[in-house]
Amino acid sequence: MQKPFDFVIFGGAGDLALRKLIPAWYRAYREGQMPKGSRIFGTVRKTEQAENYLEIVREAAYGYLRDDEIDNATWKEFEACLHGVFINITELDDHWAALAKTLDEGNEERIFYMATPPAVFSQCCKNIHDSGMISPSSRVVVEKPLGYDAKSAEAINAEIAQYFEENAIFRIDHYLGKETVQNLLALRFTNCIFEHLWDSKSIDHVEISISETVGLEGRASFYDDAGALRDMVQNHLMQLLCLVAMEPPSKLNADSIRTEKLKVLDALRPLVGDDVARNTVRGQYVAGEVGGKQVPGYLDELGKDSNTETFVAIRAHIDNWRWSNVPFYLRTGKRLKQRCAEIIIQYKTVTHHIYPESAGNMIPNRLVIQLQPDERVQMIVTSNNLEKHEAELVPSVLSLNLTDKYEKFYSDAYKRLMLDSAANNPALFIHRNEVDAAWQWIDPIIEAWQRPENKPQPYPAGSWGPKASEDLLKCDGRNWFNVG
Ligand code: BG6
Repeated sequence: MQKPFDFVIFGGAGDLALRKLIPAWYRAYREGQMPKGSRIFGTVRKTEQAENYLEIVREAAYGYLRDDEIDNATWKEFEACLHGVFINITELDDHWAALAKTLDEGNEERIFYMATPPAVFSQCCKNIHDSGMISPSSRVVVEKPLGYDAKSAEAINAEIAQYFEENAIFRIDHYLGKETVQNLLALRFTNCIFEHLWDSKSIDHVEISISETVGLEGRASFYDDAGALRDMVQNHLMQLLCLVAMEPPSKLNADSIRTEKLKVLDALRPLVGDDVARNTVRGQYVAGEVGGKQVPGYLDELGKDSNTETFVAIRAHIDNWRWSNVPFYLRTGKRLKQRCAEIIIQYKTVTHHIYPESAGNMIPNRLVIQLQPDERVQMIVTSNNLEKHEAELVPSVLSLNLTDKYEKFYSDAYKRLMLDSAANNPALFIHRNEVDAAWQWIDPIIEAWQRPENKPQPYPAGSWGPKASEDLLKCDGRNWFNVG
């Protein structure tokens, strides 16, 4: 039985808290997953915000929850767990002491969630420590971006490590909380048919693609400093790559899973110097039409000139026994044609055709693991067209649609991860060594992209990215598998 906890959100009235964290806690409460007696504190920078915290939170959360999730009576009960606290994160004063006292009188389990810019992580951890809030059962959850490159990430990690042990630092990547990502592990490690066909003998290539239709969404200054490589590839895409490529962990616990993920990162073939131009594509959207609506280009949205990429495609290789010569194509971008996150495992074709007339129609088997918009797993197989007397081969789909199967269940990655942090289960959180290894692979790409001749290639909003992204696969005799 999970113990009640105190959960302190630093940045309690910020976008992340209002959009994701509080709605996720409300869902957990509504589903009876929040232990009785638990408390949530949101720190705010103005006294008026502390006084009106419940209204601020309710108004925002009601805008983010689905209509069928909102139930005024349940929300009212949930409000009893919520507290707004005025605190200046960077200044250690009496307000910190007051919060420390409140926590001392409360639950033993304490979670501090940094929903703040990374620039204040260190000072905030120091103040948590200096005000005496750290108890033997407290932990800290930190949000990305964890650094700008390997060096800055190491500095942030080292600062946090002054106050919290590694096993009390929960580095969150919300993609790891998505239900289909959990299912990927179940699929791979509980079904013989997949695990026996999960290597270079059977698999031709793997695609991992996260396409978004949104643009800057009011995060211009953060995004323009980061770009798609740091914002999406260094974390979400590389984590998905690890889960697809890792060896079976000996147990389903944090140590075993992290050890296997780390081995994948270590085996990634470095892209250095000229390799970068050959194996990567960076793009930036120009004006176009997305979902029937005309949208401006990145530079117009930003209001200044910029070389930041909003699209990345990469051909990666994992140099180990299992994945020798199997390319992993990674792709992500903003303002693309469709919102979709998918992992495609494309199998090799059969070695001998006994249907010579239909040989051209045969498509290779594909396992499609879709994370969003729907959560589903599909296997594309070749079958016979029953309407024809002569043998005619057609592609058919074996489908497991988790969104339909669990239609009443609202999957929420943050809910899962926050409950895990409250239950002190770090399996789905990232170890410091993984962050470091991911940056070690990303840094040389960033370095090569900084050369003046390496400008992002334009692509119209509403397309699948620059033509060079198609060419990256075409020159290997392959194509992206695009939904829609
Ligand atoms: C965040 C990125 O980590 O993930 C955003 O900073 C991106 O730029 C978001 O839009 C995508 O998450 P999801 O769950 O909507 O695919």
